Amino acid sequence: MSAIETWGEMVRVEHAQSDRMRGERPTDHWTRYAAGFKADPRRQGDALVEALRSRLVPGETLLDVGAGGGRLALPLALTCSAVTAVEPSPSMCSVLRETALEYHIDNVSVVEAAWPEASVERADVVLCSHVVYVIENIEPFVRKMHGHARRLVLAVVFQSPPQSQLYALWERVHGEKRHGLPSLPQFLPVLEELGIRPEVTELEPQAPMTFDSFEAAQDSIARRIYVNPGTPAMTRLQCVLQESLRQRDGGWQIEGAQPSRPCIVAWETASG
Ligand SMILES: C[S@@+](CC[C@H](N)C(=O)[O-])C[C@H]1O[C@@H](n2cnc3c(N)ncnc32)[C@H](O)[C@@H]1O
Repeated sequence: MSAIETWGEMVRVEHAQSDRMRGERPTDHWTRYAAGFKADPRRQGDALVEALRSRLVPGETLLDVGAGGGRLALPLALTCSAVTAVEPSPSMCSVLRETALEYHIDNVSVVEAAWPEASVERADVVLCSHVVYVIENIEPFVRKMHGHARRLVLAVVFQSPPQSQLYALWERVHGEKRHGLPSLPQFLPVLEELGIRPEVTELEPQAPMTFDSFEAAQDSIARRIYVNPGTPAMTRLQCVLQESLRQRDGGWQIEGAQPSRPCIVAWETASG
């Protein structure tokens, strides 16, 4: 199997397992999480924002594919002449628009659509942060990012899949191995097959998931691994969490959970 086929197969298998556990897919998966993607665009000390900003030339245009609530698009708009944020989730788009208004950032236009279907102009730089994991048909997705970047593509991808801290819990609660989404180790061979030779920069690891209380951890983890209240699976989850949650760094963490390490995968397109 090629790297591109392997990628598609991993996404398909993970999605099929999620659908089987969860039942019907929600129309907007992000409704419950979108508020968590709101951040002050003028915040200081955000290592990812600073690392991305250092790769931009002031006054350039930016296209942010899967911009979410504007966590990156809005701070980077302070450096760019204009930002186009492509985002299919209505709840994420609302957070992005509201945050732009609240902080008086008026050079960001939101295109409520999915990539690669979205119809937008090219930009100097194309950014895509923490999106690729769920894209089954990765080849047209990456090819269009490449084709839409006049100078540079910046993809932000974790070394291991975003929810992998929960995979061991999943197995104990559902009694079957969690199929993982692809992440950086699968992304680099995909790029190689597309003839792209990127530069990869590892950023500081992010702290493992931390929850305010035991109850908050249980509620959040139950949602993320598709466990409904009042079910036998919830009883199993409660037992597993009694053994697995520890108080650390002022919150509750899963014993043994590893920090996630984000990487910037960058390549020049030189397409003018
Ligand atoms: C984990 S969030 C990341 C948001 C933002 N890039 C960030 O780093 O804060 C993933 C986002 O990708 C978006 N997304 C998923 N599939 C997409 C697609 N085919 N085209 C564009 N965005 C997509 C989701 O709606 C969601 O907002």
